[in-house]
Amino acid sequence: MRCLLDLTGEQHTQESLYQRISFPPAPPDRPYIFLNMVSSLDGKITLGEVGDSASGLGSPSDQMLMKRLQSNAQAVMIGASTLRVGHVAYPPSLMRAVVTTGGNIPADARFFRDAPGRAIVFTTEQMPEGQRTALQEVAHVVVCGVDRVNLTQALRFLRHQMGVERLLCEGGGGLNFEMFAAGLIDEWFLTLAPKVKGGSHIPTTVEGQGFARERAVRMELVSVYEQDSELYLRYRTLR
Ligand SMILES: NC(=O)c1ccc[n+]([C@@H]2O[C@H](COP(=O)([O-])OP(=O)(O)OC[C@H]3O[C@@H](n4cnc5c(N)ncnc54)[C@H](OP(=O)(O)O)[C@@H]3O)[C@@H](O)[C@H]2O)c1
Repeated sequence: MRCLLDLTGEQHTQESLYQRISFPPAPPDRPYIFLNMVSSLDGKITLGEVGDSASGLGSPSDQMLMKRLQSNAQAVMIGASTLRVGHVAYPPSLMRAVVTTGGNIPADARFFRDAPGRAIVFTTEQMPEGQRTALQEVAHVVVCGVDRVNLTQALRFLRHQMGVERLLCEGGGGLNFEMFAAGLIDEWFLTLAPKVKGGSHIPTTVEGQGFARERAVRMELVSVYEQDSELYLRYRTLR
């Protein structure tokens, strides 16, 4: 692995990159939040069709770095569609949260089974009673809004009730847009896989309604590593 740029002043090898990241302290009302995604050169987040997993997009090195980023977090958060795709597995010790309007997620998913007492469902008043009862068997169900989950409120819960100081957000694009829109992403770890997918219907790393030109989120580069033409980029949000 080659270090192309590292403005942290460190020089990492494949063995040490992202092993122990020193993040700034968490703000008082939420965790410090870092996003991790892998995309093709054209920004797509799956090599399959809409609703497919990200399988095959990143290399084994990307998979390894993804696990290291998880080990730097006390909790991970995903959108419900990413959970519905399946194949979502985390170390049992890692607290995990999913965001959903109506709770259309399988209560028997590994996401819940692997971590009794350490899974959280952030939802709204739209969740049907039956689904709430089923999910309460396997997770903390936290209502944070009428029609949409108020993410700021959800993150305050993670910080104050669950003691989470470092949160990893793992997408997908729908949740990512809402997190950026609420000013909740502090850093973005982006793996750029040397592949081109194409397809205007295939989701990209950040979806949603998009930002007006003058409101586009500005980020600054922190580091760039490379292996076999795959880039491991780290950006920090400019406030
Ligand atoms: N390449 C990568 O690194 C990567 C990483 C993750 C995912 N993916 C891929 O991304 C795709 C899924 O992405 P996506 O953009 O379709 O979906 P997503 O962001 O995973 O999930 C969107 C869903 O999350 C819930 N949600 C998000 N914000 C909410 C809010 N404020 N209030 C209430 N609910 C909220 C809603 O769930 P409900 O519909 O239940 O209301 C919404 O439909 C999959 O193909 C997956 O494989 C790729």
